[in-house]
Amino acid sequence: MNLETDLRAVGIIPVVALDRAEDALPLVDALSGGGLGCVEITFRTPAAAAAIGAVRLHRPGVLVGAGTILTTAQADAAIEAGASFLVAPGFNPVVVRHSLSRGIPIVPGVCTPSEIDQALALDMTLLKFFPAGPIGGVAYIKALIGPYPMVRFVPTGGITIANLGEFLAVPQVVACGGTWLTRADMILAGDFAGVEALARDAVAAVLAARGGLAATLVEL
Ligand code: 3PG
Repeated sequence: MNLETDLRAVGIIPVVALDRAEDALPLVDALSGGGLGCVEITFRTPAAAAAIGAVRLHRPGVLVGAGTILTTAQADAAIEAGASFLVAPGFNPVVVRHSLSRGIPIVPGVCTPSEIDQALALDMTLLKFFPAGPIGGVAYIKALIGPYPMVRFVPTGGITIANLGEFLAVPQVVACGGTWLTRADMILAGDFAGVEALARDAVAAVLAARGGLAATLVEL
């Protein structure tokens, strides 16, 4: 598995905090129905590990990541649950080293040059850029690329269907993460048809931004 290749193929990482693990399968089915075979389930709720486990077991073709990994214990729980990759909002070298020692890819977060320096010191070049919108958006990423052309970014935070295209137009942007298509109110209401429609719109935006390159998606 090459995570950068897989994430670039998808273009979008739907990020979700699930209150109920039983929502995981209808959610990934809705995302897949819209053309997105990827999800990041965050450790912001106690249901995270069970939700990841359900996706791994019942929808093995979906690329399932574990997000908001702040501690080595959460990294271990995500690995036991079957996550394919980990994501963190910040750069914690202890968590990064631990995850890599356990053989799982991790996309740690950065938003300053000094944090990028710390990541590069551990040979990490695939980095979440968080919080992308509030910190300065596409202009800020372009400023970072000058001194750091080797870094590949996954902008997250403040991404919507309206600005997705401008982020994806930057070649160093591998994929964008976001919650706009996995809204808590829609999931709680069981509006999975709505989620599917948002996913379909998002895939169309990826295709438009990338000139028709197929957004891959993992077969179910
Ligand atoms: C994340 O966890 O990556 C962010 O909270 C997602 O940000 P968003 O809700 O603005 O998409």
